[in-house]
Amino acid sequence: VRTTAVFADLPRIRLGHFPTPIEEFPTLSERLGVNLLVKREDLAGLAFGGNKVRKLERLLALPEARAADVLLTSGGPQSNHVRETAAAGRRLGKRVIAFLRGSADARAGNLLVDELLGAELRFVPADDYAPIDAAIESERAALSAQGTESFVVPLGAASGPGVAAWAEGMIEVLEQAPQAPDCLVVAAGTGSTAAGLALGSAAARSAARVVGISASWSEERLAGEARRLLAEAAAFAPAFESAVVGAQERLSWDGRFVGAGYTCPTREGQDALELLASVGVVGDLTYTAKAVAGLVTLIKEGVIEGDSTVVYVHSGGAPELFARPPEIVFGRQPILEGSLR
Ligand SMILES: Cc1ncc(COP(=O)(O)O)c(C=O)c1O
Repeated sequence: VRTTAVFADLPRIRLGHFPTPIEEFPTLSERLGVNLLVKREDLAGLAFGGNKVRKLERLLALPEARAADVLLTSGGPQSNHVRETAAAGRRLGKRVIAFLRGSADARAGNLLVDELLGAELRFVPADDYAPIDAAIESERAALSAQGTESFVVPLGAASGPGVAAWAEGMIEVLEQAPQAPDCLVVAAGTGSTAAGLALGSAAARSAARVVGISASWSEERLAGEARRLLAEAAAFAPAFESAVVGAQERLSWDGRFVGAGYTCPTREGQDALELLASVGVVGDLTYTAKAVAGLVTLIKEGVIEGDSTVVYVHSGGAPELFARPPEIVFGRQPILEGSLR
């Protein structure tokens, strides 16, 4: 696949700062026994960065998104995705309505930013997304009946364009990395970032494999979702079709670091948050800390080989820390009390 040509043909609107930097951390590398590089997607801009910015640059460039006056989306109360979509909508002059799972939490962290950015927040008391999807559909129909076009940004911006955006992110990594990466590690929510990295790796014929460390879903669910998303990416950018099998071969999931559930902190995660902080990098407890805990364990287990070149993709998420009690951030309170719902 002639990757640069593929991306040149895909529509894009500029929302963030790209390429995001890749940084070397010699002291951390020495401690972990690998050559560690960190892809600083937390510095992608828009509103506090993160892995959604490049996905939204592709997704919101679709003609149906450009034509819409309203963006409809969903997430948990501390959703980073909702925060980024709220910022993107404001920037593009669109109304944003976000359907949030659960009830109005403390107006802190991401929720505070959502409100500041003028997102209209609708809380749906539910454990899963079926009632939220139904609420979005009825809002879409109601707006349409008034002659207002809306565009649904899927949960986590997981979509063909979102996966293609991360295939491009992988090409960026391959161009930037001072040594060829053997392995990439990233947190997985919907798995679309990991799937895109693997697609980029296969398309560029890199040997790098990708491990998605789950923040929530089972390995089986992530694998099923990745199959669907990779097919969507190939439908969006047909040049990628020949790389889908290679992407699947390079991709694996690790569901061992979720702990008691989505957003619930874990001891290993609290340690990993401190490990990142020890080199001046701020993460979060829902995604990045669990991913780094996974990375550390995979190195200890020898699944990631000593002295290999590992790229940790920092996917953002730090604003959630401002919604957590300090005792949870510093690991001094029983972790079961730490869920953000
Ligand atoms: C900070 C952070 N990391 C990782 C993820 C997971 O991304 P993906 O849904 O692409 O797996 C998300 C969003 O869900 C996130 O907000």
